[in-house]
Amino acid sequence: MEKLVPPEIEAYAERHSMQESAICRALREETQRTMEYHQMLVGPLEGAFLKMMTQLVGAIRVLEIGMFTGYSALCFAEALPEHGTVITCEINEKSAAVARRYFAQAPFGSKISISIGPALDTMRMLTGPFDLIFIDADKVNYLNYYRRSLDLLAPKGVILIDNVLWSGEVLKQPPPDESTAAIQELNRVVSTDPRVSAVLVTIRDGVLVIKRTG
Ligand SMILES: C[S@@+](CC[C@H](N)C(=O)[O-])C[C@H]1O[C@@H](n2cnc3c(N)ncnc32)[C@H](O)[C@@H]1O
Repeated sequence: MEKLVPPEIEAYAERHSMQESAICRALREETQRTMEYHQMLVGPLEGAFLKMMTQLVGAIRVLEIGMFTGYSALCFAEALPEHGTVITCEINEKSAAVARRYFAQAPFGSKISISIGPALDTMRMLTGPFDLIFIDADKVNYLNYYRRSLDLLAPKGVILIDNVLWSGEVLKQPPPDESTAAIQELNRVVSTDPRVSAVLVTIRDGVLVIKRTG
């Protein structure tokens, strides 16, 4: 993933934001040491942003699409009140095994339940409302995840969608691959959907913040 924000600016922003918990740091470091594609994990600055959004929304129920080794799920769990819950979807058993180990150690890990399998199947079975939904899995399904999220979202809820700048590839016409095309289509649909208001925030690889209109 190409970094869109200069590293020294990112580091400055990190130093002046909510700090990463010790358990998140340990998980990040292990993921970076041992897992392929470790750059998929949101990292400290976006993690702080997710914690802030959880608290601003006053979320109780969070749904995450795409857990990987559990970094962002831990950020949500840390920011939730005692009775809050996170349901997180993942298809890969190897990354789920790492996540389980860290959830078991974290003081707030018991708030998280993992659903293994294709996220769209899980979403079809779930009932809302969710206060916060974070979409961060396979890009070709982004529009499907967005559509189902609107069914599951609480009236005052917020949807967050990660990687919507896709290392800047979204600027290319024609799109170089399927994932880029899917993200371009999602951004187009959301920005013209009269049911919602959105802002594309240029944190890390771009996060779309969506709420219902009105
Ligand atoms: C970008 S990573 C998630 C990173 C995580 N949110 C974090 O910041 O720590 C995307 C994850 O989605 C998972 N994934 C891909 N396709 C999926 C699907 N159809 N259903 C569920 N999970 C899927 C991948 O295995 C991968 O672990």
